[in-house]
Amino acid sequence: MKIKCSKEILKSLENTITVIAMFDGEDVSTPFDELNLVSRDFKAKENNIDTVTLFKNDSLVNVCFVGFGKRELLNTEKIRIIGGNLCKKLKNILKNKEYKSNDINILNLDLSSHEIGAFTEGVLLGDYKFNKYKSKNNDFEKKEIDNIIIFTEKEVECQIEKAKILANSNIIARNLVNEPSNIIYPETLAIETVRLGAEFGFNVEVYEEEKIRALGMEAFFAVSRGSINKPRFIVMRYFGDKESKDILGLVGKGLTYDTGGYSLKSNASMLDMKTDMAGAASVIGAMCAISQNKLKRNVIAVVAACENALSGDSYKPGDIINSMAKKTIEVLNTDAEGRLTLADAIYYIINNEKVTKVVDVATLTGAALTLLGNVATPVVTNNDEFYYELEKASALSGERVWKMPIYDEFRDMIKGEEADLKNTGGKNAGCITAGAFIGEFVGATPWIHMDIAGTSTSSKSIGYKAKGATGEPVRTLYYLAEI
Ligand code: BES
Ligand code: MN
Ligand code: ZN
Repeated sequence: MKIKCSKEILKSLENTITVIAMFDGEDVSTPFDELNLVSRDFKAKENNIDTVTLFKNDSLVNVCFVGFGKRELLNTEKIRIIGGNLCKKLKNILKNKEYKSNDINILNLDLSSHEIGAFTEGVLLGDYKFNKYKSKNNDFEKKEIDNIIIFTEKEVECQIEKAKILANSNIIARNLVNEPSNIIYPETLAIETVRLGAEFGFNVEVYEEEKIRALGMEAFFAVSRGSINKPRFIVMRYFGDKESKDILGLVGKGLTYDTGGYSLKSNASMLDMKTDMAGAASVIGAMCAISQNKLKRNVIAVVAACENALSGDSYKPGDIINSMAKKTIEVLNTDAEGRLTLADAIYYIINNEKVTKVVDVATLTGAALTLLGNVATPVVTNNDEFYYELEKASALSGERVWKMPIYDEFRDMIKGEEADLKNTGGKNAGCITAGAFIGEFVGATPWIHMDIAGTSTSSKSIGYKAKGATGEPVRTLYYLAEI
């Protein structure tokens, strides 16, 4: 699907589906009087989408009204959602009927250029479906929208281009997350990252087992040991501002599969665990967007990629392991593996790559899902000013975040008895104690921890989201680098 804008007035309605944007309480103004007239019968309630067929000059004309609701209640996230819903609806229409052309024209989209950008993002993201493994023997399955043309007099090319980059980067992340673990495992994740780096313009270095051990990443290594698929440590570097010493660090949890290890998950909770590298996918997607938009900013991202598998070589509950930071850890539960890999990854990015601020993104705890559902990402931080920047980025992306408190009592809950730390803090406040554990490896560097166990996937297709991976928080990370 291609999306573009045009300043020329649309001359004919034939052979296409024409979409009319409707704002509650406002008249429609298009070059076609009869359209302006019929539009009055339509309720412009937000997300209300309806189609009519008109008879004009001896031929049938297909019109689709899309409601934006009252203008004063509208915001960019609502516009994104409307764009997503509209796209899904249009695809359904195309599926069920034979049209001469699968082009769509959009009229009366009286929004600011910035809002048209958000609308474009919504449409492009709404178009996404992970169906590459379905045999397409049905002609209807193959039907796609060819072109979407937004008719507007405004200068919106830049916004549309940026929206395409952001949507595309989000979709890169969604695809990585949706791929099963027999396709994406540490080695193939690294290969794919190298390919993306070459395509979009960031440098990628991959450390194999020997280097991981030489660096002293014993916690990461312990988690990876049980799998036949060997770990990879992926380093992505983008230097857009060579004069500056500031480097934004991104760390993504990269468990390409999480069985739980000896603290084995049930089949039901294991089923989704190919998505346990959503943090990694989001930092990779963000690097694609940042480099493609050539941001004047230095950004380094790392992923400690491995599988938490079950074998004679796996680490076991009760083991005491070391870490790159030389803090010792009692493994109370082998299913609390993400924080062990992140401990070494965050220590590495701060001390070896010298980042000046760091964000880690991880599908870390079921507790995050219990806390805020699929609705918002709980955050733990050591720096309120940095968190304020994240809030601004989140307002631009529409991907919600919410800050959790990090009191000393939470830090006490992960103090070890026989070693320095333990890898679980008991059944209470699990999302916060998991964050606090990572915080032990951070020091004074401004740090944000995002637990995306809830927001990285969606149980249903809604708005611009598809069932499965959401690609969150790619766009938030991008804006964090941009602002
Ligand atoms: N990857 C899981 C967290 C998760 C759960 C992500 C559900 C997405 C959906 C993580 O490694 C895990 O197993 N966490 C444990 C921690 C516990 C053992 C302290 C959990 O949340 O149960
Ligand atoms: Mn786990
Ligand atoms: Zn996990």
